Amino acid sequence: MNSTNDQKREQWASRSGFLLASIGSAAGLGNIWRFSYVAGENGGATFLVIYLLCILFIGLPIVIAEISIGRNAQGDAVLAFRHADPDHPWYIVGGVAVLGCFIILGFYGVVAGWSLKYFVSALSGHLWATSDYNNFFSGFISQPLEPVIWQAVMMTATVTVVAGGIQKGIETVNRILMPILALIVFILAIYSLTLDGAGKGLTFLFRPDWNAFSKPSVYIAAIGQAFFSLGIGMTIFLTYGAYLPKTFSIPGIASTIVVGDTLLALLAGLAIFPAVFSFGLSPAQGPELAFITLPGLFQLMPGGNLIAVLFFGLLVGAALTSMLSILEVPVAYFIRKTGQSRRTVTTSLGLVIFVVGIPASLGYSVFKPAGIGERNILEIYDYTISNLLLPLGGIATALFAGWGWGKAQALAKSGFHEGLAGQVWLFCLRFIGPIFIALAFFSAYLF
Ligand code: PHE
Repeated sequence: MNSTNDQKREQWASRSGFLLASIGSAAGLGNIWRFSYVAGENGGATFLVIYLLCILFIGLPIVIAEISIGRNAQGDAVLAFRHADPDHPWYIVGGVAVLGCFIILGFYGVVAGWSLKYFVSALSGHLWATSDYNNFFSGFISQPLEPVIWQAVMMTATVTVVAGGIQKGIETVNRILMPILALIVFILAIYSLTLDGAGKGLTFLFRPDWNAFSKPSVYIAAIGQAFFSLGIGMTIFLTYGAYLPKTFSIPGIASTIVVGDTLLALLAGLAIFPAVFSFGLSPAQGPELAFITLPGLFQLMPGGNLIAVLFFGLLVGAALTSMLSILEVPVAYFIRKTGQSRRTVTTSLGLVIFVVGIPASLGYSVFKPAGIGERNILEIYDYTISNLLLPLGGIATALFAGWGWGKAQALAKSGFHEGLAGQVWLFCLRFIGPIFIALAFFSAYLF
């Protein structure tokens, strides 16, 4: 087995390049499409409070752990765990993550494809030919070919960028797209807040219903969303961190990433909920919120055509910058294992992942009978990833850094050394994350 790391590895050109790429990875469909519908279904502000606590006490510590493990090993997910502890089978965590990324990107590429379809329809004006968006959406996704084509376009774009390498591909695209995306979400939030009746949206998002804190399903939803939005548990930050020079302070970088991701989610919430409430619509629409409710709303708003182009453009750009990071996880692993060029590995994996996504893409037509209960294949992928795979991967990473690595190593490799902050970090990894998630799982699945 080739576990040496003697190839000359690429590195990020600068600290800001790594930061932008990492925020680009974290901020994606999760912050806009998923955040809005999950918050909408789980009572808004109550969900938000639990979500923010999960981000701070569980998410941030795991981002620090992932970057530390990757930066220290300067290698892919499997190699990094093996390097960190050659005596125990922690590398299985890396292996599961590499495989998990096939499913995540398979499903993610489908929703990214929908976003692209809507973006192009908004640009061409085709989106305004109807006012029945239920029909527009179900007509689109129930076709046996069209959704797959849009998915293929997004996957091709992802493969093209990742094949270009860390600096020339991933870093360059993030450097261009991230400032544009931040500006768009800012404009959308300001616009939405100026609509009549916007205040109801703010109340929904920021005034918790204290009774709802006793519902276990809200906790599971918040944990799932925190993991999905940050993109932790699937060694994404570990893999990106492996291209980081050894001189940067990890806790500082990780905090910036987490704050950036959270701000983008909040801004997306500010862009969506005031507008939804201002038009007297319900936020609890499920995954179709962005694709059925919002277009209807854009049609009614002054300047809505432009707003729609900006909104769906934002979705496409944010999705792409996340797709790059998900693909990089298996790419880094298979480049080392096969010794093939980045271009060959990226193209082959892109193809396999595209095929993995097809059942989700056609879950509304050809693969409809394969759904389980109420959920179609896409929803099964999403549920399994967010509520099972990511939390389990994240907890395994927390347990490794908190217990498996040993206190002295963990503190030294993360750059905390002996201060109080390092103790708090370890405490979160060792106790808060694992216990909180175990409790939420037991209460949600057993009672
Ligand atoms: N964090 C990304 C988003 O919010 C999605 C993602 C999930 C990325 C899992 C990597 C891993 O859209």
